[in-house]
Amino acid sequence: MRRATITGWGKYLPSNVMTNKDLEKIVDTTDEWIQKRTGIKKRRIADEDTATSDLAIEASKNALEKANLDPEELDLIIVSTVTPDMAFPATACIVQDKIGASNAAAFDLEAGCSGFVYGLSVGSQFIESGLYDNVLIIGAETLSKITDWEDRNTCVLFGDGAGAAVLQATDKGGFLAFDLGSDGSGADALYMEAGGSAKPASLETVKNKQHYIRMEGNPVFKFAVKTMKKASLDVLDKASLTTDDINLLIPHQANTRIIKSARRRLKLDEDEVYVNLPELGNTSSASVAIAMAEARENGKINNGDNVLLVAFGAGLTWAAAAIEWNENI
Ligand SMILES: CC(C)(COP(=O)(O)OP(=O)(O)OC[C@H]1O[C@@H](n2cnc3c(N)ncnc32)[C@H](O)[C@@H]1OP(=O)(O)O)[C@@H](O)C(=O)NCCC(=O)NCCS
Repeated sequence: MRRATITGWGKYLPSNVMTNKDLEKIVDTTDEWIQKRTGIKKRRIADEDTATSDLAIEASKNALEKANLDPEELDLIIVSTVTPDMAFPATACIVQDKIGASNAAAFDLEAGCSGFVYGLSVGSQFIESGLYDNVLIIGAETLSKITDWEDRNTCVLFGDGAGAAVLQATDKGGFLAFDLGSDGSGADALYMEAGGSAKPASLETVKNKQHYIRMEGNPVFKFAVKTMKKASLDVLDKASLTTDDINLLIPHQANTRIIKSARRRLKLDEDEVYVNLPELGNTSSASVAIAMAEARENGKINNGDNVLLVAFGAGLTWAAAAIEWNENI
């Protein structure tokens, strides 16, 4: 059976590090509170002149190099982001031009922090159907650009970065199953109010600070804990696997308490779960992409391993993927 598999992976992080101590100087918070309630110690922040596409391009080049693929060989580029360079054109088109992927279709996909895993599922369909051979999926964010640096409820949580994966066809292993879902009744738990057709940008929306991330932390927390377990078990079921078969869980990096709860509910050991949240914070749709690239780079993923990706985010949305890792196509 023709399936999609990951043959290249890459990440890119802005060099500027913002610590919890730095945040103590900006809002009424403490390093102790942030670490205890979220697990986060630091995050990367892009500078003023850096757009989401700039991070996406560097992550993409790394992924293409690992896959030993020329940009011209790409058939499709999907960028998952909630912080596109502009409302339109798609950030994927900017990436397509700047990396020289002259034969690729390109579009953006928005599913909050679940976006990268949604993107993998979309890219996989094009490969399984035989329509395309080489697909690039990118999760990239500059959340710092839509962060209200006076809101301690949100500004301590997020960071910037990008991750990318090259998908190609294989007849052994690869993506075994996906589980995607949404519950739009939770749309008001995590959103940016203005700048779209419902509330176009105006002097008033700027004055009212409606171009920033707004979040109700508690409902999102509860949703995350419930969803991480359910989506994980559902995708394993579809792949005819159990949690015993899993070598590594790569969860969306939002809060170590959420990750710990998922780990316990799935009865996994600590070393079976990849966590980089303390170093990078929540990078939204880049989070699973970056964590996956790091885990592969650090030897935490090897050919033949069963890897489980699971994410949740604004929408509300969730997405999980079961992969039998196989780079040898
Ligand atoms: C945001 C989150 C860390 C808050 O943790 P919490 O334990 O739920 O804390 P609460 O919201 O109950 O707030 C407790 C208190 O801490 C305060 N607080 C919030 N942020 C704070 C900060 N940065 N520093 C110090 N105190 C803070 C609150 O104001 C509140 O004070 P009050 O009791 O006087 O009103 C947690 O709800 C969470 O992680 N939610 C999920 C968020 C998420 O994953 N978002 C991304 C989805 S992709």
